[in-house]
Amino acid sequence: MVMEGRWDNKGQYAKERIKLYEQIFGEGYISAGGHKTMEQMCALLKNLKKNARVLDIGSGIGGGAFFLESQYGCVVTGVDLCKDIYSIAIDRSTTRGSVVNFLLGDILDMEFTPKSFDVIMSRDTLLHLPEIKKRELFARCIEWLDDNGKIIIGDYCRRPKNEAICESFEAYIAERGYDLHGPFAYGKLLEDAGFKKVVTWDVSGDFLELLEVELERFREEHNPRPKHFEKDDFEHFEKSWLKKIEWVRNGDMRKGILYGRRG
Ligand SMILES: C[S@@+](CC[C@H](N)C(=O)[O-])C[C@H]1O[C@@H](n2cnc3c(N)ncnc32)[C@H](O)[C@@H]1O
Repeated sequence: MVMEGRWDNKGQYAKERIKLYEQIFGEGYISAGGHKTMEQMCALLKNLKKNARVLDIGSGIGGGAFFLESQYGCVVTGVDLCKDIYSIAIDRSTTRGSVVNFLLGDILDMEFTPKSFDVIMSRDTLLHLPEIKKRELFARCIEWLDDNGKIIIGDYCRRPKNEAICESFEAYIAERGYDLHGPFAYGKLLEDAGFKKVVTWDVSGDFLELLEVELERFREEHNPRPKHFEKDDFEHFEKSWLKKIEWVRNGDMRKGILYGRRG
């Protein structure tokens, strides 16, 4: 099941970039909203039980998995495709004496016993999968979940696909190779796969606030620019956050949280 490979999405997840992201999002996270979004998603799951078996798809450097383990006593399996990211998660796991089961590989190649999870969670990861692969994955997630199992996904979204988006956001999506949906169309993919009681939240307002806070904090903490920071990285970060803020303000870029139940 373990895959050797150095996928980093054309440098998006290169080691130096990961360090930079973590400074922005907070310890353990390389996704929008860092720990705050994790708490929000756990609250939406309601009643996350001790020993709940959780699959974290795209577990990154482990922040979410460690939180589920330490805060809720969950038994967590994390899957990630990027070797450098996986290695960081493993190192941290050893340091903190965690028993999270981190696996290196593509979630699309993973095999799990049917009904072996109570919760499947994923943050800012499925954007990397084309729609057809998302559909395939959701169908398999249903099999992996136990009868009362739940799925919760936080992900980048866009204005509905039948509406135009600005050129710069279109170019960003193409360059990253993302497949983005309107939040409600995304929820429909879960329904199509057979998930019940699907709920979709368009949390773009919260996302905008987070982006503004992250940019402000970054500017305060890095003024003057620390020596270890490459000027290019610094400018890249500032520019890309300003762009995201513009896209969310004009409604092109959105953020969704989707929830569904197996039964
Ligand atoms: C933006 S990061 C988010 C990481 C983590 N969820 C977090 O919140 O910090 C997306 C992660 O998904 C992983 N990823 C992308 N495609 C994947 C796939 N097909 N299978 C497993 N992991 C994948 C990447 O390597 C990366 O670590």
